[in-house]
Amino acid sequence: LLAFFAPKPLAGRKVLVTAGPTYEAIDPVRGITNLSSGKMGFAIARAAREAGADATLVAGPVHLPTPRGVHRVNVQSARDMLAAVEQHVQDAAVFIATAAVADWRPAAPAAHKIKKDGSGQPRTLDCVENPDILAAVAQSPRALGGDLFCVGFAAESHDLLAQATAKRARKQVALLVGNIGPATFGQDDNALLLVDSRGHRELPRASKRVLARQLMAEIATRLPALRS
Ligand code: CTP
Ligand code: CA
Repeated sequence: LLAFFAPKPLAGRKVLVTAGPTYEAIDPVRGITNLSSGKMGFAIARAAREAGADATLVAGPVHLPTPRGVHRVNVQSARDMLAAVEQHVQDAAVFIATAAVADWRPAAPAAHKIKKDGSGQPRTLDCVENPDILAAVAQSPRALGGDLFCVGFAAESHDLLAQATAKRARKQVALLVGNIGPATFGQDDNALLLVDSRGHRELPRASKRVLARQLMAEIATRLPALRS
């Protein structure tokens, strides 16, 4: 009900969000993943929808209900996520990358379950770097031309402001959002540090749902006016 009467600053805009971890297969029964819960990304997709946006959520493997009215695309690997993002980003006005994308994937996943050899010796797993989804989108012509507003997230263990500022420059995104520690994986609340070209500001500790609404309001104020 609250959402129904709320202002709709994102009406007529498409917002694309990535969320959750990715899963990179080692063999058919195991893989590399991480502890991302997906909660922040799901809350952001929900807030985007409540703000009137046409919201699409590209989600790695998480067991969370799809927010009402949000279009959800389930993926496993980083490469699947990139393909889904490329398909849905075409006419988006905002891209928000909250996913904890695995930085590496096994170079050659085995077709059959790998058996231990019983030697007790250490074994190694050859990995290759995954594509950087956010960097790829942020360097697309629409993003560079100002038609696609890109937002990155960062969870750092130390020096958040310095690292978030550096990450924003490296990824060439308009807005970089830092999770203010301690580790927020799986928690229901969080505090955020927003870094953009003008400087930084903090959104103090609150539920991920409240923060998601505040973040969408911040993003809405940064979008160019709709052309009619
Ligand atoms: N990201 C992405 N694709 C990747 C890696 C990261 O889209 N392959 C996005 C994340 O969704 C996040 C941002 O980039 O919005 C920052 O992710 P992070 O892991 O903090 O940065 P990395 O560039 O991977 O650097 P590092 O992990 O070494 O700090
Ligand atoms: Ca990373």
